[in-house]
Amino acid sequence: MILNGETQVYGILGYPVKHSKSPMFQTAAFEALGINAVYVPFHVKPEDLKKAIDGIKALSIKGVNITVPHKEEVIKYVNEVSEEVKYIGAANTIKNIDGYLKAYNTDAYGFIRGLKELLQKAKKEIYELKFLVIGAGGASRAVVYGLLKEGAQKIYIANRTKERVEKLIKDFSSLNKFVKEIITPISLSEIDKFLDKTDVIINTTSVGLKEEDKPLFRYENLKKEHIVIDIIYKKTLLLKEAEKKGCLWQDGLPMLLYQGAKSFEIWTGKEAPIKIMEEILRK
Ligand code: ATR
Repeated sequence: MILNGETQVYGILGYPVKHSKSPMFQTAAFEALGINAVYVPFHVKPEDLKKAIDGIKALSIKGVNITVPHKEEVIKYVNEVSEEVKYIGAANTIKNIDGYLKAYNTDAYGFIRGLKELLQKAKKEIYELKFLVIGAGGASRAVVYGLLKEGAQKIYIANRTKERVEKLIKDFSSLNKFVKEIITPISLSEIDKFLDKTDVIINTTSVGLKEEDKPLFRYENLKKEHIVIDIIYKKTLLLKEAEKKGCLWQDGLPMLLYQGAKSFEIWTGKEAPIKIMEEILRK
């Protein structure tokens, strides 16, 4: 890679940001397409977010990803938000169009593309399946937004805090007029009872990230017919149990890959070199 006076700058804003895999796979994507650009991590404290966003304009940074804990707060500081950001209430991508900042959320796209890939193996379509989504935070809202858009017939949402699911239903009611029938809130302790009614189980919480985390339900109750997804990008206890039972399963890598690919396409207008990005991620 040769840097010169015309090198364009992209990056990711997070706190912390040092664990992000995006600088590696986004830079590789620019290189693969011969685009003179770099993608760097920006460690931005919450109290400095507005200044950092203004800095994007001042420094003519072409585009950024936004990660924890700024995904919600950042919406206040951009000029425009896309439809999915309005519903999800969080953004992970900003494009700088000559000083005009537009925010997008590519997590829903990333999740759905990964899900479709997995469902192909089972020869199933989203509209014919019943989903159990665990969690009701920002990641869950992106997943549920994607599922509603794709016509999922039933979504049980299990969350520790019930009010968060109620807010999600209210916020999504203008997206789909049947949302109150499609989404049923349940408690974490009810999950085991609902497993028989569910085809696809999706964990969107951070539970499972640490080895010592207690299971969200009795994983031994999984059946081989269940399709199990954990958006954490490692083989969590949930995924290990799913594998043991012979379930079709997927970790968070496809969602990470495809959300990044979509961001790349928003910034450059060019098709992302998926194979190369995936190779870097899997290393
Ligand atoms: P993200 O953007 O990753 O979704 P978030 O918005 O902070 O992060 O949401 C975290 C989700 O994980 C929430 O659904 C949270 O449950 P609450 O709404 O009750 O807080 C869930 N979560 C986090 N830690 C949890 C735990 N130990 N047990 C159960 N749920 C947990």
